[in-house]
Amino acid sequence: MSSPPYAAITGWGMAVPRRVVTNAELAQRIDTSDEWIRTRTGIAQRHVADPDEFTSVLATRAGREALERAGVAPESVDTVIVATCTPDRTFPATACTVQANLGIPRAGAFDIAAACSGFVYGLSVATALVKSGMSRSVLLIAADIFTHFIDWNDRNTCVLFGDGAGAVLLQATDQPRGLLASNIGSWGEGETLMAVDAGGTRQPASAELLEAGRQYVYMNGREIFRHAVRGMAESSERAVADAGLTLDDVALVVPHQANVRIIEAVARRLGVPMERFFVNLDRYGNTSAASVPIALYEAAQQGRVKAGDLVLLTAFGGGLTWGSALLRWG
Ligand code: ACO
Repeated sequence: MSSPPYAAITGWGMAVPRRVVTNAELAQRIDTSDEWIRTRTGIAQRHVADPDEFTSVLATRAGREALERAGVAPESVDTVIVATCTPDRTFPATACTVQANLGIPRAGAFDIAAACSGFVYGLSVATALVKSGMSRSVLLIAADIFTHFIDWNDRNTCVLFGDGAGAVLLQATDQPRGLLASNIGSWGEGETLMAVDAGGTRQPASAELLEAGRQYVYMNGREIFRHAVRGMAESSERAVADAGLTLDDVALVVPHQANVRIIEAVARRLGVPMERFFVNLDRYGNTSAASVPIALYEAAQQGRVKAGDLVLLTAFGGGLTWGSALLRWG
């Protein structure tokens, strides 16, 4: 049997926690203001997970919606991938928990850790699995609960993040749909620009590390900003060129939702007007790996992408990692 040439996105889903935390609420607790957060980031509110809404819970909700939208039974899924850097546990993989929750029998299940670039990384891997003939349908979910790794007294980080999950189902097809070109990249020398140190094998969890607050995210915001603009712009240009197309052919750019000023700088660099960028970070903040599929979901629901449209996804995150994917929707 020859390999199917394309992997179409046939279903999509998303999930966010119940609780909404507004900028005004944060301003009551720390030295910040709604005005500062809005003008410096574009964020107005974020969803924050309660203890019963851990990563696999949101991932399962998003995954179930993607299957229902596609009208595909769990038994038909061959592979479950969860892109996350905030898994339920160190092991087993969160994808295994989701596989069990959704009743997907015997599917291969594994996690991808590429921080905010996780969904774009996952899309490349999922498409390769389908194109190679190894899988006929892959459920790709990106889910992060970043707020558990936030020091709520650190105004440099706590205003930026929110929690969520987004999912897509990819299915083998002969139609020219799904990923046309993609690239992923990393620069490990930048590992110290953003990280959570405590709890890994390099610095196992200890009372001293907890006392020092090393279980929380630290970040060099200005440096990350600079690298993010360059990383997303360059990999976007490459994805479009690799498909033999130009940015004028792209109907909508769906970028990682970290900061509207980063998105505006990428738009300027690419020479693409902001009207062709999808932005929803005002309501969700930076949901890490989930940000691109949540934005893609809302773009589809709002009719901003139609069958046959070319959509460019681009992301950047800790690692440092980046990636872009050009896909034909529908
Ligand atoms: N409220 C009020 N003031 C604040 C706040 C806040 N919440 N946070 C920082 N400030 C202050 C700073 O202390 C600083 O004060 P100082 O000049 O007296 O020291 C001042 O505001 C300006 O700080 P800058 O760092 O210059 O602010 P900038 O305009 O660069 O914005 C920000 C900071 C929002 C963090 C920006 O740099 C950014 O978005 N960077 C990218 C971060 C990012 O996207 N990270 C995620 C990567 S993706 C992933 O892998 C999850």
